Amino acid sequence: MTTTLLTNIGELTTNVAAGGDPLGTVHDAALLMADGRIAWIGQAADAPARGQDATIDAGGRAVIPGFVDSHTHLVFGGDRADEFEARMAGTPYAAGGIRRTVAATRAASDEELRLRLQRFTTELHGQGTTTFEIKTGYGLTVADEERLARLAAEVSGEVTFLGAHVVPAEYAERRDEYVELVCGEMLRACAPHARWIDVFCERGAFTPEEARRILAAGAERGLGLRVHGNQLGPGEGVRLAVAAGAASVDHCTYLDDADVAALAGSQTVATLLPGVEFSTRQPYPDARRLIDAGVTVALASDCNPGSSFTSSLPLMIALAVREMGMTPAEAVWAATAGGARALRRDDVGALAPGMRADVVMLDAPTRVHLAYRPGVPIVQTVWVGGRAVTPEPSAR
Ligand code: NIG
Ligand code: FE
Repeated sequence: MTTTLLTNIGELTTNVAAGGDPLGTVHDAALLMADGRIAWIGQAADAPARGQDATIDAGGRAVIPGFVDSHTHLVFGGDRADEFEARMAGTPYAAGGIRRTVAATRAASDEELRLRLQRFTTELHGQGTTTFEIKTGYGLTVADEERLARLAAEVSGEVTFLGAHVVPAEYAERRDEYVELVCGEMLRACAPHARWIDVFCERGAFTPEEARRILAAGAERGLGLRVHGNQLGPGEGVRLAVAAGAASVDHCTYLDDADVAALAGSQTVATLLPGVEFSTRQPYPDARRLIDAGVTVALASDCNPGSSFTSSLPLMIALAVREMGMTPAEAVWAATAGGARALRRDDVGALAPGMRADVVMLDAPTRVHLAYRPGVPIVQTVWVGGRAVTPEPSAR
């Protein structure tokens, strides 16, 4: 049994709501990690004086739960920096760019993709992300989608089958056949590696009818449902996600009142991805309107080579506060507990006895610094399941 006491925490965010504070903030706190779980949380003055293997002094710093990034596309080959450069010069973003990454991903070996996934894992951990979902969707053949799902499952338990990312070029004139393939053979090959199915419901990708069919096939195989909706314009994505009982509908950039009302009365989380609006020069989603209507909001990176090539949840928090009307506390909640809700997980996204010891110490006195100091690497130490994945401060 390995036990570590983290003490002298100036501001501890637990996300266990208390006394009107949804973030369950504790000042002058301590927490004990034992065998990968949180064993105890309380006032530093009440912490066990001895008995643990190591004691780490947080020096008054802020500690938060690890970030839960519920939306990434980390398994791909190639690079689209040229597309980004053209976009900044005025070329609009279009879903068709996905096909370029499909070609590069099909050409990449398992070893190349594996190495990249390992590097991304290190990159995410270093920025405080301790749980991350990964979507397939850059293979779009049965063999390639199965390969991407299998490789993603080597680094994450949250794998999403996204064969319905875009209709691949070779099926451009036979889209019905492609939808048939996604719902049949491709789904059968990928489902053993996946927990979720997702569909990009948007002009240029899949129609609402196709999306409903694909989600129904996934549900029949026992997969949970997610939807990319209302990213590039208004549409039925949000409402069909709610009607299907999806765990999350992601993007939610273009919403009308009926979309907001549907979300507010549902168990579907609205996952906002401000890295996309930042990187495609689109208007940001209105988080304030959603939160005020009672919708559960999550923040995620959407890390992918086309629309948002960043894995930084601190950046998402800063954008959500600066551009989307969220308070720093709401944004931190959305990137931790919100992400956990979007993945229907109750063992991560908060710090309470029995939960996974996914803990982030900031080199800052308060979580507000995540928005207040944009671009500054204030994530100092990260523990995943009680194990430090960044250099640990010296213990005593
Ligand atoms: O979430 N919206 C669809 N898929 C990605 C973009 C993928 C790409 O451009 O390669 C997204 O933004
Ligand atoms: Fe996405």
